[in-house]
Amino acid sequence: MKEVFLIKGLAGARKLLGKIPVRGAKNAALKVMAASILFGDKLTMKNVPEIEDVNRMGDLLTDLGADVQYKNKGVLEISTTEMRNGKMSVEIAKRLRASIVLTGPLLARFGTVHFPHPGGCVIGARPIDLFLEGFKKMGAKISVSGEKGKAYYVISARGGKLRGAEIFFRNQSVTGTETFMMAAVLAEGKTVIKNAALEPEIETLAEYLNSCGAKISGAGTSTITITGTSKLKSKGRAYVTTPDRIEAGSFLVIAALLGEDVTITDCEPKHLESLIEVLTYSGVPIKVGTNTITVKVSGKKKVQLNAVDIKTHEYPGFPTDIQAPMVVYLTQTKGDSLVFETIFEGRLNYVEWLNRMGAEITMFDPHRVKISGPTPLNSKELESPDLRAGLAFVIAGIVAKGESVIHNVYNIDRGYERVEERLRAIGVSIERIPVADSVVV
Ligand code: EPU
Repeated sequence: MKEVFLIKGLAGARKLLGKIPVRGAKNAALKVMAASILFGDKLTMKNVPEIEDVNRMGDLLTDLGADVQYKNKGVLEISTTEMRNGKMSVEIAKRLRASIVLTGPLLARFGTVHFPHPGGCVIGARPIDLFLEGFKKMGAKISVSGEKGKAYYVISARGGKLRGAEIFFRNQSVTGTETFMMAAVLAEGKTVIKNAALEPEIETLAEYLNSCGAKISGAGTSTITITGTSKLKSKGRAYVTTPDRIEAGSFLVIAALLGEDVTITDCEPKHLESLIEVLTYSGVPIKVGTNTITVKVSGKKKVQLNAVDIKTHEYPGFPTDIQAPMVVYLTQTKGDSLVFETIFEGRLNYVEWLNRMGAEITMFDPHRVKISGPTPLNSKELESPDLRAGLAFVIAGIVAKGESVIHNVYNIDRGYERVEERLRAIGVSIERIPVADSVVV
């Protein structure tokens, strides 16, 4: 049964009140799930978000022979001791971009990996050339097998064992950095990753692996050095998933637009410095605590939100994953804002839908738009195109006047745990409604 979100908009009124908690980071949890392949014993994870992408990764690991157990809320136990080979299910892997990170640990452990070109959000070309080149440098051979539509790569380490290598990324890649960091943990000798990505999820992964016996230095900087070891042992030490900075940032955008007194809790403000800086510059009254961020407007004071230019950038720059919520924000600010999406070429395709709601957004090319504001938004029936733009449509629906319907809620569930329940707790009128597959609401 398909589901839609039905949202009664606030017509721009600053009425939201209360606390909204942030769950563990999708893009951290998925990589630690992949890292379970490096372990000789059971791995326990805590604060794991209950989202579709975690389920898909669980299915992929189970299909490979892992024992994946969902325990109490947010607790996941994974044992890969019975895993026998590195042949990924083409069907499941194609549905999840993060499946690519399994290639590193699988190849390092079994000497061979089979995998399809990964799927995930449709936000651009999403090549894997950096992966293929890196594996070659570590001494692997690459070929393609299988019939059309079911083709898969076969990568084999010469002599059954990856060798340490020096890898320079032409583009900083988050999953690339994580994949090679994990591959190198079980490879022979030393690997150096240069122009590595700096995202906090990479650092927390390295810290946890080190606490279980890995030898990784420099994670969180642009040069990471890994010395290969044998299988890691968790010895019961759990990985606690770092808070999701993208979810926290998206909630902060909602609070910036419509919060009278909203506190985002269970988050890590230092992972969101660029967004906090940009919103503060634009006029949002923000107070940062140790694990909280508050937007509070005193009395009946009107807050003047001003235009601000955004350029997405690798961490610690402005995250591409918060670009879409930010564009919705900029439809409500005074003046012209330029947004330059530098990471993915398909990530501004949703803006025409905001224009249909009343926004004034001009697209110059696939990477650059101008937003002129403020413009009131009208309710609309929208289809969530991908995870992040899907949440941006929810935000647009909350800002708008009238009742909006957001289809393809599944896309939003991929990355946000029952987001409607948490939004309702701060005063958003949002319902999840099942609809028959053939019904158009
Ligand atoms: N790139 C290449 N060749 C490669 C790999 C990447 O040219 O082999 C390019 C990409 O096309 C892009 C740039 O490098 O232009 C950066 O891409 P990156 O590899 O860093 O992206 P990713 O690892 O596929 C992760 C997150 C994304 C997030 C980006 C950027 C995961 C599973 N995905 O993707 O998250 O947008 O980093 O921060 O960690 C999301 O959560 O909705 C999402 C899309």
